[in-house]
Amino acid sequence: MKTLVVIGASGGIGYECVKEILLHDENRWKIILGQRDHCSTKAIGALEDYRKIAPSDTLLAPFTCDLASFSSIRSFVANLKEVRTINSLIFNAGCVMDSVPTYTEDGLETTYQVNHVGYWLLLKLLLDAGKTIDRIVFVNSALHRKGRDLSADECLISNQRQQNYAYDGVKVYGNAKLVQVLCVKTFVNALERSRESGQVPEILICSPGFIPQSDLGGRLVALCATSPEYSGKLGLFIDKDRKESSLNPLAQDQALQKKWWLLTCKAAGIDPFI
Ligand SMILES: NC(=O)c1ccc[n+]([C@@H]2O[C@H](COP(=O)([O-])OP(=O)(O)OC[C@H]3O[C@@H](n4cnc5c(N)ncnc54)[C@H](OP(=O)(O)O)[C@@H]3O)[C@@H](O)[C@H]2O)c1
Repeated sequence: MKTLVVIGASGGIGYECVKEILLHDENRWKIILGQRDHCSTKAIGALEDYRKIAPSDTLLAPFTCDLASFSSIRSFVANLKEVRTINSLIFNAGCVMDSVPTYTEDGLETTYQVNHVGYWLLLKLLLDAGKTIDRIVFVNSALHRKGRDLSADECLISNQRQQNYAYDGVKVYGNAKLVQVLCVKTFVNALERSRESGQVPEILICSPGFIPQSDLGGRLVALCATSPEYSGKLGLFIDKDRKESSLNPLAQDQALQKKWWLLTCKAAGIDPFI
């Protein structure tokens, strides 16, 4: 039996991705559903839908994983203590805020924490807990290409608020997705270096495009999570047409990669682990 972990499995693309795998993938799956609140009506409704279509030998395990709360992320990982190998780990949940910044209980701006910082804490905790991870899929966005003026955003992932910061929710979302790509690049570079000495996880970044119907996005993410066609790939960026696509040129800037890796680890309260 294979194990899949999906973060953001109560609605949208994550929900459609799980359905796609249940309906069409031939493997037997244990699927760990990371949901913002696994007791919410929406999450329970999603679980009921999954049960209606799941093959009888599928295991579905819903747990709360609120990326806007480091303590929730820690509890989520603690709940996975019996899991040794994660065949596919999907970092899908994300959010865009309006025109006013909001801050999480950890003191970070919500878009940055939910779309980016929370995932690195989660990954670090899984690695510290000794899990073997075969593949990680980061659900990103074409809007990362619009990422710019990153230095102004440093105040959003630190506790240093700036009164004169001109907040624009969509811009911050694009920037947070760019910062995710920068950190994935840092991580991938480190994995490339250690590839000779052992197996490393496959890393894919995908961009579902702007999709009013999330079933198309769900199919793309399911493909990225399960297809053998991506075996051994490290850092491939796949777009909505399932083709390898270009990144924002800023993503190749090694100084930016390093800077945002360190800022991210600090924001997540973890030692830089590569
Ligand atoms: N749809 C698009 O056009 C599009 C385009 C490009 C990229 N994307 C990316 O695709 C991913 C999924 O987006 P979507 O379109 O499916 O959005 P969505 O319909 O709004 O669903 C977002 C999912 O993320 C979850 N989520 C939100 N905040 C969370 C938190 N604090 N902790 C844990 N889970 C949280 C939601 O949970 P609740 O159900 O509890 O709210 C929901 O399951 C995101 O990373 C997004 O950036 C989407």
